[in-house]
Amino acid sequence: MGTKHAVLRSRLVWMAGLGVSAALAAGYAARAGAESSVAPVTPATSIRVQAASPVDAGRYLVTVSGCNDCHTPGYMQKDGHVPETEWLTGSPVGWQGPWGTSYASNLRLLLQDMDEDTWVQYARIRDGHPPMPWWALKTLSDEDLRSLYQYVRSLPVAGEPAPAFVPPGQPVSTPYISLMPQMPAPVPGTPPSDTPAAPAPMP
Ligand code: HEC
Repeated sequence: MGTKHAVLRSRLVWMAGLGVSAALAAGYAARAGAESSVAPVTPATSIRVQAASPVDAGRYLVTVSGCNDCHTPGYMQKDGHVPETEWLTGSPVGWQGPWGTSYASNLRLLLQDMDEDTWVQYARIRDGHPPMPWWALKTLSDEDLRSLYQYVRSLPVAGEPAPAFVPPGQPVSTPYISLMPQMPAPVPGTPPSDTPAAPAPMP
């Protein structure tokens, strides 16, 4: 934990050196302080989605990379039939697993408070809880992160902040989807799953 936080702190110092305001960086440090061990990722370079405009590219990226699946309320349950007016407004339904209960943020509100350069840096250093695919965000090229930003900023500010993360074992007051690993119930007449199956008889 200490090492991770030290790494995060040093990255934020680096961000501040790049001209990101120290107060902004400190605020993000508090949000980004979650425990996780996301594998290091090398951002894509010289790869970008081509479209008529950055906003169109961003809309495409958001749609195909699954951001709506979690960050738009009801998107998966309605097979994607959710009007664009509701996209990326965050979800009040949590994801519960061994890490606790996490909620996909309202990205319209998040990006409202951030300029484009800050977003590109933020997307590279932000780690947090599952099931957010942090590695996917980090892998996007700068150009695609910029398109994504411009798309989200083209949408009006809407919705409420998502509920706060709930640590493991603490009471949860919202609906949530369980991602707890489960073992299947034993099927009568079969050996327990940890007993190796009997070897086939030799011919
Ligand atoms: C499988 C669900 C899922 C998908 C898919 C997903 N997210 Fe997330 N996202 C989350 C959750 C849950 C959180 C909150 C994580 C936490 O508590 O640390 C989150 C957090 C974030 C954050 C940090 C927000 C903040 O307030 O600091 C950003 C930025 C983000 N997601 C962007 C994206 C983008 C862009 C995409 C598409 C490329 C995407 N997410 C796809 C579930 C998802």
